[in-house]
Amino acid sequence: MKILKFPEKFYWGAATAAHQVEGGQHNDWSEWEKANAERLARESEKDFRWNPHWKEFEGEATNPKNYISGLACDHYNRFREDFDLAKDLGHNAHRFSIEWSRIEPEEGRFDEKAIEHYRVVLLSLRERGLEPFVTLLHFTLPLWLSKKGGVLHKDFPDCFERYTEKVAQALGEHIHYWITINEPDVFAGGAYMKGIWPPQKKNIFSFFKALRRQADAHKKAYAVIKKIFPESRVGVAKHNIWFEATDNTLVNRLLKRLADSLWNDWFLKKIVAHQDFIGLNHYHHHRITGGYNKNKNEIQTDFGWEFYPQSLGQTVMELTKYGKPIYITENGLADADDDLRPRFIREALASLHTAIQSGADVRGYLHWSLLDNFEWDKGFWPRFGLIEIDYATQKRTVRPSALAYAKICKENALELPDSASEN
Ligand code: BGC
Repeated sequence: MKILKFPEKFYWGAATAAHQVEGGQHNDWSEWEKANAERLARESEKDFRWNPHWKEFEGEATNPKNYISGLACDHYNRFREDFDLAKDLGHNAHRFSIEWSRIEPEEGRFDEKAIEHYRVVLLSLRERGLEPFVTLLHFTLPLWLSKKGGVLHKDFPDCFERYTEKVAQALGEHIHYWITINEPDVFAGGAYMKGIWPPQKKNIFSFFKALRRQADAHKKAYAVIKKIFPESRVGVAKHNIWFEATDNTLVNRLLKRLADSLWNDWFLKKIVAHQDFIGLNHYHHHRITGGYNKNKNEIQTDFGWEFYPQSLGQTVMELTKYGKPIYITENGLADADDDLRPRFIREALASLHTAIQSGADVRGYLHWSLLDNFEWDKGFWPRFGLIEIDYATQKRTVRPSALAYAKICKENALELPDSASEN
């Protein structure tokens, strides 16, 4: 048996996002869901027939109700119970997002009750010894902002700065780790490149504009938080992919460099002087062999994504060039039966350990997700949780993978059979 020790004071935990778990939202997504649920249910077969798991979720995916976030996990009311579970599972950190549309339901009007709610959330985490990692924007916008053009509007960075300042003044004494924006690129890609997420305005120029505006918004938010709390740590959660050039040919190397610089590095370079750490959200590996995404796909998750946990370590190594501490702010898979998740966690963490041994300054791992949740335009059928949710009864059931992960969290170490590979 090999024991892989993680660095002292390593943060272990899981992540969620407001819209996906809280329930009772009133924002651009909740409106969009109502207008699009029927269509999404109708189109699901065409979109997902290729998926080897289609038969397992066909019933849910073809039902329009699947696409309405509604009560979700009712985490807005049940957060204490959920944090108790996280604590019992040995977590010492937790990432969640504050819902902007609750804090500022009308432009310039802040809702003190909503602010108070998040104060209680933060204190509940601290009482349980869970270090909060707080995201300010995880895909959803207040309606007043989306109506005037969302992230494309010239005022977006100022609006985001004002909201951030309010949250920092009201709640900042309880927050050390801030994530301004979750996956600015995935967000812009869904909304403006693929045109499948609100506001569904497919236009490549808008995509780049959305990225630029989010970079400006991040910089302003960074400055305002640091002005009030200079000791706090502020970053983004960046969705990076491991592009693997499968051989050393010139064309593959060039394609990899192009993919890296457009997807992995462009945004990080734009904000490089305005971040204290890099938050890495990691899910994908793409093999480049004279073309793009020639994955072997030997095993596929429920989502149809390649099962390739070891790409976490590779992706981390590629971030070391920034010379910043790295926190894994998301990493996980859709796996309703929980038969792949224990192995996924083990192999992802083994690769992370190898990266740390090779010099990467990684300080925490937050699995996606603590709870099953509302997976955006796919709805409820993809099950990403360490904890299973029965949406009819709101019953929580701890999955076996959560227990295996708990052992790692509690021991700050991963036990591997001698035969297992570390990368
Ligand atoms: C997002 C999460 C999402 C997860 C799984 C990430 O891109 O930040 O909100 O649930 O991927 O798809």
